[in-house]
Amino acid sequence: MPSPLPRLRSPGWLCILLGLLAPVDGPAHAAAADPLAIERGAVIYRQGTCPVCHHWQGQGNRRGPDLTDDEWLHGDGSLTAVRQAIETGFRHGAGRRFRGKYEMWPFGGMELDEPDVDALTAYVWSLHRRRRAADTLTREVVSRIAFGSGADQDRSQPVWDTVLALRPQLMLMLGNSVLAGTSDMDQLRLQYDKLAAKPGFAELRGQSRFLATWNDLDFGHEDGGADFGQRAESQQVFLDFWGVPPGSARRGKPGIYTSQRFGPPGRRLQVILLDTRYHRGPLWRVSPNEAADREARGMGPYLPNDHQRARMLGEEQWRWLEEQLRQSADLRLIVTSIPFVMEFSGWESWANMPLERMRLIDLIRTTRANGVLLLSGDTPWSEVSRLDGELTYPLWDITSSSLNRRSGGIGPNRHRVGPATSEPNFGYMEIDWTQADPAIRIELRTVANRGLLRQTLRLSELQPK
Ligand code: HEC
Repeated sequence: MPSPLPRLRSPGWLCILLGLLAPVDGPAHAAAADPLAIERGAVIYRQGTCPVCHHWQGQGNRRGPDLTDDEWLHGDGSLTAVRQAIETGFRHGAGRRFRGKYEMWPFGGMELDEPDVDALTAYVWSLHRRRRAADTLTREVVSRIAFGSGADQDRSQPVWDTVLALRPQLMLMLGNSVLAGTSDMDQLRLQYDKLAAKPGFAELRGQSRFLATWNDLDFGHEDGGADFGQRAESQQVFLDFWGVPPGSARRGKPGIYTSQRFGPPGRRLQVILLDTRYHRGPLWRVSPNEAADREARGMGPYLPNDHQRARMLGEEQWRWLEEQLRQSADLRLIVTSIPFVMEFSGWESWANMPLERMRLIDLIRTTRANGVLLLSGDTPWSEVSRLDGELTYPLWDITSSSLNRRSGGIGPNRHRVGPATSEPNFGYMEIDWTQADPAIRIELRTVANRGLLRQTLRLSELQPK
């Protein structure tokens, strides 16, 4: 078949040549990012041998390194270095990681003419730039993290002053940042306004970086999911409030899931925030009589739905999550607005969709994701849960709910570690990266900064075997 690739003559080539000669961050770099050249390079990449060893979008696999990150085995990631890598290839894996395993032939073993190589270079070079902009891998080492869920905007929120004093670098909102539950978007915005007007909250936003997911009531519908008619509008309100710029890719994608990484290799924290609302299918309930009966025992009205099609995240989000879990990180906090490990309380939790719950466990196993720790909210009480025997390391889930409301009775959970509490609380985590085996100290604290529940983990306890 004749090559479908059109020969392209555009002034972009000059820019790329200039880019080759210019220092890495010189102005010519911007010009080298000629979208046409990059697009053509992407086609050459995908139709060529590259994906065999570097995956479809350069994420890498066991045959070849990730081309989208900022870690380079050869050179500095400049256009010159990328071009040289493509031209010369690597015999028997010249670098440390692939030594003696796989080699890359010059041009990946393909016949490429000069413009092809230019385009391919521009594409590969653009990958890590784009990724850097997209997931903002910041250089900051994060060691102080606060988290919490459920903030009643119609009450005072003294908790923010307590959190402020701890000077967390990150504040993770696990859902229900406002208790709105309305399909009227003006109403929803009004509730957010009330939160924004809390002085402690405003000060903390000025001081710490916030990352948020939503739960049912800031999504807009109590225990709601994909059937909530205003979900697309609500997403925009959410992104507005949490300061996501109008041009962001997150604006056009259904669901608010996102992730971010912080710190250099060895001290790298990844925060993955799931959206357990936008795509979630229907829940199964017990009869009203049984629900009343359950309530007396601190239990909620839901039943496990083991239907094949029971859906928590939706396919797009699952694919995305797999990509995140394959990125390099030392500690990964997976934020899920509803508890993951807890079983079985009858309230909203992943246990209501056992196959989806198993799918996440399997995904952590097959990606060999290290350092996974879950943070969740929603439940009428707070607790620490540990799931043994499913992965080669225990899966911990820290549930904190709520920030300023005393909750109801405490229901069953066979994975609970220690006591549960219904006192209002927030979570605080300190990571001591200076130790050879970093310690992760996690505490749920009252508004008076008194420790309620405590759990210390070592990073070595969160490694796949
Ligand atoms: C048969 C497997 C294989 C194929 C096919 C292949 N590569 Fe590679 N590539 C590797 C390996 C292995 C390395 C790392 C070598 C080492 O460090 O020892 C590498 C390294 C690179 C690097 C340098 C990365 C760094 O971190 O410094 C670039 C750039 C690159 N490849 C681009 C490409 C492109 C573009 C193609 C398609 C034309 C391609 N490769 C095809 C296996 C492959």
